[in-house]
Amino acid sequence: FNAEAFRAHLIDWFKKEQRILPWRENQDPYRVWVSEIMLQQTRVDTVIPYFNHFMEQFPTPEALASAPEQDVLKAWEGLGYYSRARNLQNAVREVVEHYEGKVPDNKEQLGDLKGVGPYTKGAILSIAYDQAEPAVDGNVMRVLSRILLVEEDIAKASTKTLFESLVRELISKEDPSAFNQGLMELGAIICTPKSPSCMLCPVQDECRAFSEGKEGELPIKSKK
Ligand code: ADE
Repeated sequence: FNAEAFRAHLIDWFKKEQRILPWRENQDPYRVWVSEIMLQQTRVDTVIPYFNHFMEQFPTPEALASAPEQDVLKAWEGLGYYSRARNLQNAVREVVEHYEGKVPDNKEQLGDLKGVGPYTKGAILSIAYDQAEPAVDGNVMRVLSRILLVEEDIAKASTKTLFESLVRELISKEDPSAFNQGLMELGAIICTPKSPSCMLCPVQDECRAFSEGKEGELPIKSKK
C-alpha cells in the first residue's frame, strides 16, 4: 500500500472536486462545530439551509450563548434530535464563560464539552485548527475498510478505535484538514454505500477492495 500516493491523490481530488458548502467558506471553529453537529444525523442537502439560517441568527458563540433556549430549538425545528441543539448551546455557554468565547484548540478541553465526542473533536481540530487528528464516522470507516481491506465489524467499538489508529498513521501532516474532508467527501460522492463509483475514484489504484473485486462486500457490519 502506497500511503504517499493515497494522500496525494485524495488531497488533489478534494481540492479540485469538493462541493461548495457554506461551512467550507472559512475555518471559523464555531462554524465547523455547528456544521459537524448538524451533519451527524442529517444529510448535507437538508443541513445547508438550516446552517445558513442558524449562522445569521447566531453568528458567534456569544450570540448563541445569550439566546433563549426556545429560540435555538425553534431554529433547529425540522432537523430532529433536539438534544444536539441543547448540548450545543450548553457547550457554547461553557466556551463563552471559561474560554472568552474562543473554541478550544486542544483535545482535553474540547472533549469535556457537552455533545463533543471523538468525531466532532477530531473534525474541529483538523478542519479549523489544522491538527493531524482523526475524525472517524461511519462514512470514513466505509471508505477506509475498502481502501485497506479491513474486514472487521464496523459495529464494534474496537473497530472504530482501529480506524482512528490507522488515520493517525495515514493522515497528511501537511494538510490534515483536506485529508479528513477528502475522506468524508469521497464517502459522500464516490465511495457510496451501494454501487460505489470506482471508475471515477481518485484512489482506485490505491484501493485494495477494488483490486480484489470486494468493494461490494465491504464494510462488514453486524446488526445489533
Ligand atoms: N459530513 C460530515 N462532515 C462533513 C463535512 N464537513 N462536509 C460534508 N459532509 C460532511
